[in-house]
Amino acid sequence: MPARRRVSKNDLRAAERYDAAPFVPASRSLATLRAASRGCRGCPLFIPATQTVFGEGPKTATIVLVGEEPGDVEDRKDAVFVGPAGRVLDEALEKAGLGRPAVYLTNAVKHFKFEERGKRRLHKKPGAREIEACRPWLGAELDAIRPTVVVCLGATAANSIGRFADLGRAGVVRTIHPSAALRAPERKQRHSLRARLVRDLRRAKRLAEAGG
Ligand code: URA
Repeated sequence: MPARRRVSKNDLRAAERYDAAPFVPASRSLATLRAASRGCRGCPLFIPATQTVFGEGPKTATIVLVGEEPGDVEDRKDAVFVGPAGRVLDEALEKAGLGRPAVYLTNAVKHFKFEERGKRRLHKKPGAREIEACRPWLGAELDAIRPTVVVCLGATAANSIGRFADLGRAGVVRTIHPSAALRAPERKQRHSLRARLVRDLRRAKRLAEAGG
């Protein structure tokens, strides 16, 4: 279990405002944004999490994929989609003819939210306040990249993206979260969810090629 960090009164006060905006620099450099995100205290999720897990991928990506929040593996490794859901996503990206290096991958919420059960850390869905608090980071990433297509992986991403008044020229594709294809109880369902993910990613690729 990663060690708990000490939290100052100032950090706590900032976190209780549920707003990451004061921590987001006015920059379109992904490296600058990523570095600043390390110090985000825009909501209380930073306290138990190991670190901020920022998005990854080229600034020139025409497609941005947005997930929900980092999972247990991502929180420890400081990388997006590198756990079981990431394997489903990688396979779907490959089948859709979209290698991971071609896309920018991020999450609506940049810290892992979990509940401790003994030595295990069980994923908890981010709440509306946490999603809203973290939106300035997603906005800054979209502003830096200006993608042609934004793919929402699941409801949390769709919810966060849907609240942006201006996505520029970007088209939006909504699809399932890859973990849904892991959790479905029946093999047939899991298969059809994986197929849907591939179909939607192919649609995103075609849209991006057509310019949005
Ligand atoms: N699930 C997500 O939504 N994002 C990740 O980075 C990993 C799992």
